[in-house]
Amino acid sequence: MSRRGFLGGLGLAGAGVAAGAAAGCSDSEATTGGAPPAAAAVSFHGDHQAGIGTPAQDRLAFAAFDLTTSSRTDLVDLLHTWTAAAVAMTAGQQVPGSSTDAQAPPADTGEAVGLPASALTVTVGFGPTMFDHRFGLGARKPAALTGLPALPGDQLDPTRCGGDLGVQACANDPQVAFHVIRNLSRLASGTASMRWSQLGFGRTSTTSRSQATPRNLMGFKDGTRNIRGEDTAAMNSHVWVGRDSDQSWLRGGSYLVTRRIRMQIEAWDRDYLADQENVFGRKKGDGAPLTGRAETDVPDLAAKDSAGEPVIPVDAHIRLASRETNGGLQILRRGYSYTDGTDPATGDLDAGLFFIAYQKDPASQFVALQRRLGVHDALNEYISHTGSAVFACPPGVRDKNDFWGRSLFA
Ligand code: HEM
Repeated sequence: MSRRGFLGGLGLAGAGVAAGAAAGCSDSEATTGGAPPAAAAVSFHGDHQAGIGTPAQDRLAFAAFDLTTSSRTDLVDLLHTWTAAAVAMTAGQQVPGSSTDAQAPPADTGEAVGLPASALTVTVGFGPTMFDHRFGLGARKPAALTGLPALPGDQLDPTRCGGDLGVQACANDPQVAFHVIRNLSRLASGTASMRWSQLGFGRTSTTSRSQATPRNLMGFKDGTRNIRGEDTAAMNSHVWVGRDSDQSWLRGGSYLVTRRIRMQIEAWDRDYLADQENVFGRKKGDGAPLTGRAETDVPDLAAKDSAGEPVIPVDAHIRLASRETNGGLQILRRGYSYTDGTDPATGDLDAGLFFIAYQKDPASQFVALQRRLGVHDALNEYISHTGSAVFACPPGVRDKNDFWGRSLFA
């Protein structure tokens, strides 16, 4: 039953419904050129999971789960159930099952009833710990799927790290994204429990040529030199796991790294503009590199000023993170701003970037970059990494007979 149909049936159709209907919710709209309509449905099925190379939406609800069972059958059943629920929610429908039986809890929790699909994508990943002794998956653990090593700049809170399963729900409506995490958690009852979760409220990257560059909480344009999903060559080189993987079940998938990066917002807001621009190596107003005039100008890392000093400082974020100074290394960034209120100890805002990156090999991509940034980046004065996780995201679910991770359990 569609979420709108259910509302109509109850005689509850209201403004939200009308807005959803006006916006339209068809797959075809999501695949037309230009920016996809904010309310449209994104196709769930495909070679790759949606939520990686598809345009980043405005809102995030992320959760990591620990499996509380040691039964492989329970795990496979959970992935079947989650897949069916995600298929329905992505299409703007309710979680399958009866939500009208007066003698049973509704199958769907109901808070997204009347809301359109909102470009929802649900992306699942498997943490390194899922491959321990419990489920007989040791021989299928990819060599590249190890817990992240200790990294410079780590101030990790163990309650915000790790997990057997990770779920990234992104949508243009926060309630639609939250609804996914709540319902998947409910469906996992007795099999998995939520370990940590994070809400994000503004995308901090551009993952499609159809998108304008957003700003992060430091007020800078973010995502300018990110990989675009339409760039098939870059996606194949840097994001999708290919034939070179030691585990064929993961081909067409990707590795997801999450980092909760808290910003010292109050200190940043006291810093003067020229220093803020030197920290990134870009201008705050239009996002142009310090050596250029337009946002898309390629940074000239060799340029010197009249005193012979590099125009883009040696410790500028974009110099240290650039492909030019890292042997061509790139990652797909897909993070969100977050705030979790204030720090009770200091009264400071607990806010920052929930960094999300996709890549084909965490060790030679995210870890290599963070080893360098964590030591030399001028940004370190204003940030600390407080949460961390890594997941292997299986390839896409091909059709209605398929489910998340089928190739792993085959
Ligand atoms: C709070 C933390 C961070 C903030 C606010 C931030 C912000 C930015 C900004 C404003 C840019 C320039 C615009 C762009 O090309 O997107 C940028 C570029 C970039 N950042 Fe970050 N970033 C953060 C953390 C990280 C981390 C942890 C990594 C990876 C370990 C990273 C990797 C990159 C890369 C690869 C680029 C593109 C560099 C280039 O090719 O020019 N960033 N970031």
